[in-house]
Amino acid sequence: PVLVVDFGAQYAQLIARRVREARIYSEVVPHTITADEVRAKNPAAIVLSGGPASVYAEDAPSLDPAVFDLGVPVFGICYGFQMMARALGGTVANTGGREFGRTTLTPTGDGVLHAGLPAEQPVWMSHNDAVQVAPEGFSTVASTPGAPVAAFENVGRRMAGVQYHPEVLHSPHGQEVLTRFLYEVAGLKPTWTAANIAEQLIADVRAQVGESGLAICGLSGGVDSAVAAALVQRAIGDRLTCVFVDHGLLRQGEREQVQTDFVAATGARLVTVDAEETFLSRLAGVSDPETKRKTIGELFIRSFEGAVSEVVGSADAKVEFLVQGTLYPDVVESGGGAGTANIKSHHNVGGLPEDLEFSLVEPLRLLFKDEVRAVGRELGLPEEIVGRQPFPGPGLAIRIVGEVTKDRLDLLRKADAIAREELTAAGLDGTIWQCPVVLLADVRSVGVQGDGRTYGHPIVLRPVSSEDAMTADWTRVPYETLEIISTRITNEVEDVNRVVLDVTSKPPGTIEWE
Ligand code: XMP
Repeated sequence: PVLVVDFGAQYAQLIARRVREARIYSEVVPHTITADEVRAKNPAAIVLSGGPASVYAEDAPSLDPAVFDLGVPVFGICYGFQMMARALGGTVANTGGREFGRTTLTPTGDGVLHAGLPAEQPVWMSHNDAVQVAPEGFSTVASTPGAPVAAFENVGRRMAGVQYHPEVLHSPHGQEVLTRFLYEVAGLKPTWTAANIAEQLIADVRAQVGESGLAICGLSGGVDSAVAAALVQRAIGDRLTCVFVDHGLLRQGEREQVQTDFVAATGARLVTVDAEETFLSRLAGVSDPETKRKTIGELFIRSFEGAVSEVVGSADAKVEFLVQGTLYPDVVESGGGAGTANIKSHHNVGGLPEDLEFSLVEPLRLLFKDEVRAVGRELGLPEEIVGRQPFPGPGLAIRIVGEVTKDRLDLLRKADAIAREELTAAGLDGTIWQCPVVLLADVRSVGVQGDGRTYGHPIVLRPVSSEDAMTADWTRVPYETLEIISTRITNEVEDVNRVVLDVTSKPPGTIEWE
């Protein structure tokens, strides 16, 4: 893999994505990794990420300097660029030429990194210190007003670095520069393709589950669990049973999509558990979001366990493995990444009961969403499934602010179906990452409908654009489309007299309301 060393900035994961977009597998590792541990991973290259610190700060995060002697290609970015400069004998100083935000980069000489790119290009910077003198053997290949040495390279040693952030979209040629490093400087070949990923993951699952192990997979109706199940089905065939728990918290049409479309595409064995009553009775009186998530997560697992005896038909056969569609961002947001705060306990990671009786199989644990979709297509899943918007495991329960009841669910399902239908009709599916429709059940709003005053509830539309759900911006849906949705929801859904639009980015807001 290409190892992306995390110095504590929020950019490490994004860099890993960008490397993968160049079709080379990459993983994030903490900066505390030792040279021996790096060697053991046999990396194709190392990318040093940006970081919040100054290389001169007391507790500046550092990296085992022996890493630079492994003969592995290295690319430094921002803080990582400065660290690399110092480690290899260059100098870094606080020149007062601090740059934050957009600046203009001028490639100099005939460097490899910027070959063929415009003579001036916008790049995104965020630095106080700057490299003053490049290390011996390295040539300076670009500069900006605040950073005379804004990029350097030593093609013979297969090392290079840039002061700016090539991974962000504000550096429009950044991806080309990163790709040029990987291909031209490090000499790597693009092999991380959907077909290869699928093949590798299928082999991994076979190795984990063994020749006779039995597995069970919960299908949520979402993309992730569907792709995870399809992969495992390819790996072990009928030794996988898919369990679809209809917890009554699904959107309109989802049950049919799983029972018909998914089964038709994969041929997987499917058992449906009707658990609406169980879930709704346990959720009665619960309005705290974390309690909802924990309750639902636990009931999910219990429902699987209940399904197991049915599935195997005898108490002796033991289903040991539970397949989950956990993704890389879930793992990091649940505190799985070093030093990352626990923001919400996603029910498929943090909310599992402690006495869990299964070993987890999480084939998508290292993948980003777009990669999951590509793998799903590779496995022949239909577009209605792989192209779906992400939908949280706890379902509509966390889209009802307040207690979850059958009536409120029915109401929200109607509003959600209308919003989805109109957004699709307006051709916005490609622009919108997902659009939670949220019922503010604890809020009453006054309205006037017909001759009378009503006392109903507001519905919130939360259309967001995102690359990976880690950050998001609110989508500028055309007013005409919003108008149609608002009119239809207030006319067709009883008890709703107001439709409001959420115009908050993430951060500071999260995508879901709970
Ligand atoms: P937030 O609200 O944290 O959501 O910005 C980020 C992404 O994760 C989805 N989400 C969940 N998915 N179980 C899931 O499987 C959960 O508990 C959960 N909570 C949020 C959310 O829809 C968005 O795509």
